Amino acid sequence: MGTLEALSPGAVVLVGGGPGDAGLMTVAGRAAVEQADVLLVDHLAPAGALEWAAPGAEIVDVSKMPRGPFTPQERINELLITHARAGRRVVRLKGGDGFVFGRGMEEVIACTEAGVPVRVVPGVSSAIAVPALAGVPVTHRGLVQGFSVISGHVPPGHPQSSLDYAALAASGTTLVVLMGVANLAAITEALLVHGMDATTPAAVVARGGHPDQEVVQAPLRDIARAAGAVRPPAVTVIGEVARWASEAFEEEA
Ligand SMILES: C[S@@+](CC[C@H](N)C(=O)[O-])C[C@H]1O[C@@H](n2cnc3c(N)ncnc32)[C@H](O)[C@@H]1O
Repeated sequence: MGTLEALSPGAVVLVGGGPGDAGLMTVAGRAAVEQADVLLVDHLAPAGALEWAAPGAEIVDVSKMPRGPFTPQERINELLITHARAGRRVVRLKGGDGFVFGRGMEEVIACTEAGVPVRVVPGVSSAIAVPALAGVPVTHRGLVQGFSVISGHVPPGHPQSSLDYAALAASGTTLVVLMGVANLAAITEALLVHGMDATTPAAVVARGGHPDQEVVQAPLRDIARAAGAVRPPAVTVIGEVARWASEAFEEEA
């Protein structure tokens, strides 16, 4: 089945919307939005993409604001199933890629268990796109041979954290931290304690691809303090590649 296949009534398509600029959605994602009868939309999904929806399409905001108001996941699953069972073509529009900290699989499982056909259109994840929008490649030949994407939603040492910071500090990969603004001091501290070089370049890129994109760059030991006033959403990049972080990347290129 190709990603450009027409949407079927009574089915759900999970669309990864990219990091926020509608221009970074895929062709298949746009085609799905254009055909939808109903769209269930997250707060980090590209608002500009909603202009492509058909005039009669219903748009439902199911935002989950960090530490703010939210639609419980169970309610979102229920809405997907109810709309699909009513014979609508349902698009679930998410930020980035739906399978990267996006609860996409939870929705796939809920639909499948309910007997609702579901397919996935992958999206451009902020884990790669947001650094790139600030001029930072997550790998670079001769410099770094991999990257690790982690969630900073819970701090190191928290009972719910399953990350091994000693291994991350020693991995030799670029570290890309999502949802890490509030815990950045604790995260950098854990990396330093586990032996990561304090002078390793680091950058925080906030609201990547939006008109108010903001880039803060500092060595690892100083990045949490330097980025203290940054408003999320933001991606933090730690590694030699972060030395290329630049506010005005497009103008300089
Ligand atoms: C719940 S996660 C979802 C990630 C998404 N599924 C993806 O693949 O990009 C939300 C986090 O993604 C990052 N993020 C998403 N869009 C962003 C943007 N435009 N600028 C900076 N960070 C962004 C932030 O770290 C934010 O806290």
